[in-house]
Amino acid sequence: MEQVTARFSQLVMPNDLNNIGTLFGGKMVSWMDIAAAKAIQRFLRGTEAAGGVTKAIDEVVFSEPVFGGEWVNFDATVISAGNTSITIKVSVRAENASGNARDVCEAIFTMVAVKKGDGDRWVKVAHGKSFN
Ligand SMILES: CC(C)(COP(=O)(O)OP(=O)(O)OC[C@H]1O[C@@H](n2cnc3c(N)ncnc32)[C@H](O)[C@@H]1OP(=O)(O)O)[C@@H](O)C(=O)NCCC(=O)NCCS
Repeated sequence: MEQVTARFSQLVMPNDLNNIGTLFGGKMVSWMDIAAAKAIQRFLRGTEAAGGVTKAIDEVVFSEPVFGGEWVNFDATVISAGNTSITIKVSVRAENASGNARDVCEAIFTMVAVKKGDGDRWVKVAHGKSFN
């Protein structure tokens, strides 16, 4: 199977900062979740699943602070797949105004393929895709 990846970028705005003036960690994880969601949407194309939801976020490491006015670039890569689950590594690099980039964060996201069940419930579904 071809490698499934997704990328997107965000500009760090004043509203994204914590009370010491660096990027708020919860905001970073939220953006990483979006990067993982973009990869999972691509991975699940053509399957019975309506989409994927986040089941677990592991091994989150904030290695360097990020500052207002910097760009953060997110790279999400599917690294394994189970029966209903898919594991995605998200890596983040920050880029300052001079164009210098550095690794700032990474995490492992486990997403689960879901489809509509009875009523309003979303239930897990086998995605039927293997990962090599
Ligand atoms: C996602 C959901 C439908 C899964 O249903 P479930 O019956 O709890 O599913 P299971 O416990 O059998 O786990 C499903 C898969 O996730 C894996 N999994 C479960 N817990 C895990 C964990 N802590 N870490 C990694 N993988 C995990 C299981 O091994 C299984 O994988 P497999 O089918 O590939 O073997 C349900 O837990 C749910 O709705 N959770 C809320 C999701 C949500 O709201 N997310 C935030 C918004 S996107």
